[in-house]
Amino acid sequence: MQQPRVHPRTLGYLGRALSLEYSAVQQYMTQANLADVWGLREAADRFRHETVEEMRHAERIVKRMLGVGVVPNSSQLRPVTLAGNLVGLLRQNAVLEAEIVALYDEATRFCQSIDDGESAEFFQGLLNDEIAHAEEVDAWLKSLSGFETKGWNDRAYF
Ligand SMILES: [Fe+2]
Ligand SMILES: [Fe+2]
Repeated sequence: MQQPRVHPRTLGYLGRALSLEYSAVQQYMTQANLADVWGLREAADRFRHETVEEMRHAERIVKRMLGVGVVPNSSQLRPVTLAGNLVGLLRQNAVLEAEIVALYDEATRFCQSIDDGESAEFFQGLLNDEIAHAEEVDAWLKSLSGFETKGWNDRAYF
């Protein structure tokens, strides 16, 4: 391959982004199947939907990395973080989404600061999606807050 056409630090952001997106795919796919085990069909569907969205993000990053001349290698797949009930899973997801938001925010600012508008726009697009994810997780958690204390969704599998 030729020399990469972006700043080395931008390549670093792309690599970290790919690792986090694949980690999110693994996490949500696992949670979808765990929700099936718990008989929470709607939650399972929502986690599956999230899995697909994160997979599409990973694909956008793969395309971008090839486009700038690097091999897309994600080197750090995170272990899945689970919990014993739906609220616990969502809390873990809020942490993951917040981390991804922070990464895209930093990457966007960095690319703006070095006048790499194309990369800045790329990261900004992902940032917008992840902010929406973080808000969805938050809203979902709020919608469950009344139930949490009643223990209806306590499942001591983990
Ligand atoms: Fe994502
Ligand atoms: Fe996300």
